[in-house]
Amino acid sequence: MSTSFTMIGGEGPESYRQHSKYQGGLLEAATEKINEAISTKLNIDLASNLVNIADFGCSTGPNTFRAVQTIIDAVEHKYQQENNLEEIEFQVFFNDSSNNDFNTLFKTLPPARKYFATGVPASFFGRVLPRSSLHVGVSSYSLHFLSKIPKKIKDCDSHAWNKDIHCTGFSKEVVRAYLDQYKIDMESFLTARAQELVSGGLLFLLGSCLPNGVQMSETLNGMMIDCIGSSLNDIAKQGLIDQEKLDTFKLPIYVAYAGEIKQIIEDNVYYTIERFDIISQENEEIPLDPEFLTVSFKVTVGGIVASHFGQHVMEKTFEVVKTKTQEMLPQLANAKPGMQYLIVLKRI
Ligand SMILES: C[S@@+](CC[C@H](N)C(=O)[O-])C[C@H]1O[C@@H](n2cnc3c(N)ncnc32)[C@H](O)[C@@H]1O
Repeated sequence: MSTSFTMIGGEGPESYRQHSKYQGGLLEAATEKINEAISTKLNIDLASNLVNIADFGCSTGPNTFRAVQTIIDAVEHKYQQENNLEEIEFQVFFNDSSNNDFNTLFKTLPPARKYFATGVPASFFGRVLPRSSLHVGVSSYSLHFLSKIPKKIKDCDSHAWNKDIHCTGFSKEVVRAYLDQYKIDMESFLTARAQELVSGGLLFLLGSCLPNGVQMSETLNGMMIDCIGSSLNDIAKQGLIDQEKLDTFKLPIYVAYAGEIKQIIEDNVYYTIERFDIISQENEEIPLDPEFLTVSFKVTVGGIVASHFGQHVMEKTFEVVKTKTQEMLPQLANAKPGMQYLIVLKRI
């Protein structure tokens, strides 16, 4: 059984909607490249004048609205110039897990949009759209979420048992268990999208990856997740949660190396790789402010913490995280930079 893990919904000060500028920054940086790929690589039959676009792992916005609008503008530009078409119609499929806050997503749809909007609540590791119906797909900052936590890392008797709450990078067995699951999931994602995409259609993948030789726990993101782990330990020592319950808590997140992602895509026979661009991200771009950092991580992993320990423990944990983040600022300032990628795939 796979589990799904969603962002904190709503429009309040501690919602993903209010705290996803960092993720949106990559989309902004990649816009020119997306335009160029649509202009030069998209090769679809527009006999019906209908273009289907999907965002896989859309969350609540606003990044998803920017992503689909960027694609729509680029497609309109390309086909109106090339074919002088009167009007192309756009259908946008917003996909996320069924427990995503789709109400907020649909309440905040841009009023001036020129597309028909549809929600697709289902796991993107399986088929979510009809065969050969999709022209352009995008998935941003979603593919580091695994479909499930590898069994071995939760089993205290296994060599791959993970004493930490995520893949810090320092235990080979733990890395292997996470990577094996990541490969299975990526393969499922790519194969499902290949069935949905028309020949000549494009798939844009954006997200974070690790530079060679850098362990997750040496990056700012890794240090912050370690901080959540050590805050949970403090809470266990205070008796608010059982140590046993904490020992089985693991995050279903794997940030891969660029080479690992490339290998998985190359092994998949359905696509040509049109672009595989790495964008270096300096830590200075993430404000080293304890409040900002704490809320940013609360909106992304707080839901997973709450589903394991309950809302009260989650709130307490992030109070401790905030205090610890303040103490950790010199260490965070010296974190090794992670990397971000834009991958453009064309369906053969
Ligand atoms: C960090 S958010 C990214 C949201 C948005 N794409 C952005 O760039 O801001 C990751 C999203 O992926 C979704 N997600 C994770 N696993 C999923 C799955 N198996 N199927 C569908 N959505 C999934 C989460 O629910 C979450 O909304």
